[in-house]
Amino acid sequence: MPNETLTITDNRTGKSYEMPISYGTIHATDLRKIKVSDDDFGMMTYDPAFMNTASCKSTVTYIDGDKGILRYRGYPIEQLAEKSTYVEVTYLLLFGELPTKTQLEEWEKKITMHTYIHENLKKLMEGFRYDAHPMGMFISTVAALSTFYPEANNIADPVVRQKQILRLIGKVPTIAAFSYRHNKGMPYVYPNNDHSFIKNFLNMMYSIGTHRYEVPPIFEKALNILFILHADHEQNCSTSAMRSVGSSHVDPFSATAAAAAALYGPLHGGANEAVLRMLDHIGDIKHVPAFIEKVKNGEGKLMGFGHRVYKNYDPRAKVIKKLADDVFKETGVDPKLEIALELERIALSDEYFIKRKLYPNVDFYSGLIYKAMGFPMEFFPVLFAIPRTSGWITHWQEMVLDEEQKIARPRQIYLGYDTRDYVGIEKRK
Ligand code: SDX
Repeated sequence: MPNETLTITDNRTGKSYEMPISYGTIHATDLRKIKVSDDDFGMMTYDPAFMNTASCKSTVTYIDGDKGILRYRGYPIEQLAEKSTYVEVTYLLLFGELPTKTQLEEWEKKITMHTYIHENLKKLMEGFRYDAHPMGMFISTVAALSTFYPEANNIADPVVRQKQILRLIGKVPTIAAFSYRHNKGMPYVYPNNDHSFIKNFLNMMYSIGTHRYEVPPIFEKALNILFILHADHEQNCSTSAMRSVGSSHVDPFSATAAAAAALYGPLHGGANEAVLRMLDHIGDIKHVPAFIEKVKNGEGKLMGFGHRVYKNYDPRAKVIKKLADDVFKETGVDPKLEIALELERIALSDEYFIKRKLYPNVDFYSGLIYKAMGFPMEFFPVLFAIPRTSGWITHWQEMVLDEEQKIARPRQIYLGYDTRDYVGIEKRK
C-alpha cells in the first residue's frame, strides 16, 4: 500500500510537514501546523464557492461528473427513473435500502397521513398578493411550519425527527398546490388520501368543483420520473444550505426554508423557469445563431447549460429529453422544442461550449415538459423544490447523525483596515 501521506515543504521556513491522506483528501485543520512563528494562526485553504472542498462524508448520492454518472444509494438514476416511484425513492434516500412491499405500503400510508396543513397556515397563505411568486410563498410557508410544530426543535429524538420528515414530504405538495390555486384565485382543493402521492398533487392543482379531474396516465408517469430525477444531487448549493443552516440545530422546517431559498436562484433551481424565458426571448429558430453569438460575447448565459460537476451530459437531461417525446405525444409538440434542440445542436458543436464542457443539465428540457403539462413558468422552481425536499431532509438527517459535524463556521482572509481610532463626527471630512 503506497504511503498514504502528503509531505509539504514550507519554503518560507524550509520546514517539511507530513500529513495523512484519507479518501483522497487531507484534513484542512492539519494545515494549521504550518506556521512561520509561534504566534502564527497557521495555514488555511482559500476556496471561494467551495470549488474543491469536501464539507462532509455521505453515503446518499454518488455523482461522476466526467462519466455522467448519478446514483442514489448505489442505484443508477436511469434504473430508478424506469422502475421506481418517487415515494419509493424517498424511502431509499432516507433509509438507504429499497423498501419491501410492506415497508413501502406503510411508508406511503404515513406520508398520506401528513398531507393536510393547519387551517391557520392556509389563512397565512391567503395574505400573499394574488401575483406573489409561488416560490416565495413556498419558502415562507415551509418556514411557518416551524411555528406549528415546536417539538421539531428536539432534533436529537429519532421519533421526533421522523415525524417532521414525514410532515415535510407529505405537506410540500399541498403547500405548492395551494400557492398555485392562490395565484389563480381559485378555491383550494384539499388532499384526497385515496390518491397516490403524484395523483393527489395533480388533483389539488387541477380539480375544479365537483368535476372529477382525470389525471392523464402519462402525466402521472412523467411527474413520477421528474420527481425521482430531482430528488437529490449530493452537495449542491441548496443541500449545502440545508446542512449549514441545520448545523446550528435549528428545526428542520426552518432549515428546509433556507434550502428552498437557495434553490430559488436562477443559477440553481430557478434555471428551469429561466430556460423557458430564454426560449421565449429567442422566439424563433432563425434567431438562435445570433443569440449564441451574444452568449459567446459574454452577454448572458445559455440557461439550462453547464454544471459545476457534470463536464459531460447530465444523465438526468438524457432521461428528461426522452420523456419529453412521450409527453408531447399526449399534449402536442411545443414549438419551443425546436428552438431548444437547435440551441443544443449548435452548442454541442461550438468550440466555445466544448472548451468549457457545457452540456444540457437537468433544467434544459424539464421546463418544456412542465409547460406542456400546464404548469405556469413561475411554478417550475416549486416543482423542483417538492422532490428536492426529500434530498434535503435526507442530508439534514445524515448531518445530525454525523459525529464529525459541528456548527458550520468557515474562516476568512481579512484584507480590511488594521486598528484605527474612532473619529468624532465634527472631525470627519
Ligand atoms: C442545477 O450543483 C448541482 O448539483 C445543481 C443541480 C442539482 O440537481 O442540485 O444539478 C441543479 O442547479 C443545475 C444548473 C442549473 N443552472 C443553469 O442552467 C444556469 C446556467 N448555468 C451556469 O450558470 C453555470 O453553468 C452553473 C452555475 C450551473 C455552473 O457554474 P460554475 O461551475 O461556477 O461554472 P463557471 O460559472 O465558472 O463557468 C465556467 C465557464 C465560464 O466562462 P469563462 O469565465 O471561463 O470564460 O463557463 C461559462 C462561464 O461564463 N459558462 C457559461 C454557462 N455556464 C458556464 N457560459 C454560457 N452559458 C452557460 N450556461
